[in-house]
Amino acid sequence: MTPSAARSMLPALSPDEQRHSEAVAALIRTELATSGGWLSFERFMELALYAPGLGYYSAGSRKLGSGGDFVTAPEVSELFGRCLAGQCAEVLRATGGEILELGAGTGSLAAALLQALDDEGVLPERYAILEVSGDLAARQRACLGALPPHLRERIVWLERLPTTPLRGVILANEVADALPVRRFRVRGGAVSELGVALAPGGTLEDAERPPDADLAQACAAMLGAPPRSLPDGYTSEVSLRLAPWIASLGGCLDRGLVLLIDYGLPRAHYYHAQRAAGTLRCHFRQRAHDDPFVNLGVQDITAWVDFTRIAEAASLAGLDVSGFATQAAFLLALGLERLVAAAPDDASRARFAGEARRLVMPEEMGEAFKVMALTRGCNTPLTGFTLQDLRRSL
Ligand SMILES: C[S@@+](CC[C@H](N)C(=O)[O-])C[C@H]1O[C@@H](n2cnc3c(N)ncnc32)[C@H](O)[C@@H]1O
Repeated sequence: MTPSAARSMLPALSPDEQRHSEAVAALIRTELATSGGWLSFERFMELALYAPGLGYYSAGSRKLGSGGDFVTAPEVSELFGRCLAGQCAEVLRATGGEILELGAGTGSLAAALLQALDDEGVLPERYAILEVSGDLAARQRACLGALPPHLRERIVWLERLPTTPLRGVILANEVADALPVRRFRVRGGAVSELGVALAPGGTLEDAERPPDADLAQACAAMLGAPPRSLPDGYTSEVSLRLAPWIASLGGCLDRGLVLLIDYGLPRAHYYHAQRAAGTLRCHFRQRAHDDPFVNLGVQDITAWVDFTRIAEAASLAGLDVSGFATQAAFLLALGLERLVAAAPDDASRARFAGEARRLVMPEEMGEAFKVMALTRGCNTPLTGFTLQDLRRSL
């Protein structure tokens, strides 16, 4: 779909959304003016998603859930958190300590996890949440405030990663895909960087220029130099923020598990010649499209995750890649079907069955979403990875 076709299919903005979007556009135009008329896509995405008070995640739009722009697995079903609880319980039994959740969305995953861990008698000493969105942190407080006091009192919100390395589990569901990415295009056998500039009418448009040293080096390492077997015009993205992020998580784990869940691929599939338009997607009111320059500050912008990049960064950070599987294989190994069958009555069993299908069917979330386990000093068998081992694909 061309960007203009995508634009014409999107619902119209409300007057408030229109005003908000214009304020974000003005901010980006100001930064363009002071940056020589060109911004990297990474900087553009950072402003559109995280500019204080204006970015999509910083400001107040509804974002997650059926009334928002997109639905994540914890919003689909509490079964997701209950399966994850089985995996966390195994590790917490061995390490003790805490859970740290990054980017906790509405708080649904934390609520389901804490209740299931309570049922299993393996509560973490504390449940810490690191959330960059003030708006979502407020929603998390409201959601988790409804938990019983003995669960509620374990929850703390952090401003930054802990400085004392922790024992236990670090969790991030759909956080890596929200890290700003650089974009590139293959042009005449070389890589150019795809950034953002002003079009003559004052709107934003793609603008190419030679890559800086960091991007050139990353592309050469991933694709070869010159890039091998990729057609002219091939466009994709790379997250240069992923490796520092993994290093920072590695730095705050003493013993235990980092569990990352996101839509993504091993590198060979990610940068396949047939994926010639890349993986960048925008989400607005349950519609996915590929025009990042509309609905500024009121739509999500994401890119799929290169899990090979995570594995490389993990090994540099002294973490072991202890599991890699599709979300379907992971949840089924952790007893998803058993949980559906154990529903207390027919109505909830039917509801659970429908939710479980969304979580595991290949055309829904089952195959595109992958789960990666990074561990340190923790030899506990990880049940979530007993049905499938995709590590050789990395
Ligand atoms: C797509 S939402 C996923 C929310 C939630 N995990 C879920 O599955 O429903 C991305 C979340 O990551 C948060 N986020 C983005 N960058 C982050 C970072 N560097 N550290 C922690 N949270 C981050 C966002 O504010 C948001 O809560």
